[in-house]
Amino acid sequence: MFVTNDIAYIGVNDHKIDLFEGQYAVPLGMAYNSYLIMDEKTAVLDTMDQGFGDVWLENLQAALAGRQPDYLVVHHMEPDHSANIVRFMEAYPGATLVSSAKAFVMMKNFFGTDFSGRNLTVGEGSTLCLGKHTLHFVMAPMVHWPEVMMSYDDADKVLFSADGFGKFGANDVVDPEGWACEARRYYFGIVGKYGMSVQAVLKKAAALDIGIICPLHGPVLKENLSYYLDTYNTWSSYGVESEGIVIAYTSVYGHTKQAVEELKELLLARGCPKVTVTDLARDDMFEAVEDAFRYGTLVLATTTYNADIFPFMRTFITHLVERGYQKRTVAFIENGSWAPLAAKTMRGLLEKSKELTFAEHTVKILSALNKESHAALAALADELCAK
Ligand code: FEO
Repeated sequence: MFVTNDIAYIGVNDHKIDLFEGQYAVPLGMAYNSYLIMDEKTAVLDTMDQGFGDVWLENLQAALAGRQPDYLVVHHMEPDHSANIVRFMEAYPGATLVSSAKAFVMMKNFFGTDFSGRNLTVGEGSTLCLGKHTLHFVMAPMVHWPEVMMSYDDADKVLFSADGFGKFGANDVVDPEGWACEARRYYFGIVGKYGMSVQAVLKKAAALDIGIICPLHGPVLKENLSYYLDTYNTWSSYGVESEGIVIAYTSVYGHTKQAVEELKELLLARGCPKVTVTDLARDDMFEAVEDAFRYGTLVLATTTYNADIFPFMRTFITHLVERGYQKRTVAFIENGSWAPLAAKTMRGLLEKSKELTFAEHTVKILSALNKESHAALAALADELCAK
């Protein structure tokens, strides 16, 4: 497959993977992208996950059509892209490895060598001339590791964006939800904590005339690029992307679930444009994480448990806080049969989150819904819909 006349796609689709990075469900598989630029000099852009070295090297060999690679550019050292560097360097002894200074330190840690004598360190603004194509290097620290860099090909106006603009899902299956859903789950799961770093790179990208974005995961993006850039700007600035309310809950015997379902109906009846409900024990928790960052209001409903809160809720709030959750409205529903303290505990866990507004009304359930808690749910719905 060709991205442009001179740039070939040599990546691989992974349908064997169960969890990406050991925790993210990927029902549509995963793509590890890699590219080859054919010019007076040839440059391979990134290698491949450990399990796919053979097929990747076959793709590379076919695309080279008898030529030898002059350079291997490493944008990111995470093993889903770097695991075949040693194999490549052994297979092509004439090739030079091009990467950032921090990447070479990591290579020594991963492989016991930084390929001294065969390496070229590049930094912000460095260039690599291949003939017609010149790669301009853009450092992108913490998008998503500190050594990350992107590169821009001024001939074909291509940004090689490392993990940026990537998504979950293999490239040989159609994602019925398009790009945004699994790109959002990927972004907030993996890169969400580093919004400021993404903002810094977006500012640099704004100075480039970009016609194509080639990420390390997901499809090559060729059309309507302002949509992707604008969406990344919203995500990385922790802005509200869509109007709506997320309700994330746990329920032991169904009473908290009943309250959540009642609240959903009350919100919809008051004209709330969208209400999503997630059972944190049973649904994909990272769908709830992406929704929490997508919408402006979050309702957390759980029980007091072991003088704390139900474990799935504690885990969920930890996922949010460590990813920089901020600039949102948060409301609580707590359930406890003798000493409810879940709302206080949840609020305490959110202490490190910036610019949160807490709803005035907290719903307290003593075991099961009663007249008071029905009224409290209605009051909370009124408050959240008044905005
Ligand atoms: Fe796709 Fe951060 O590695």
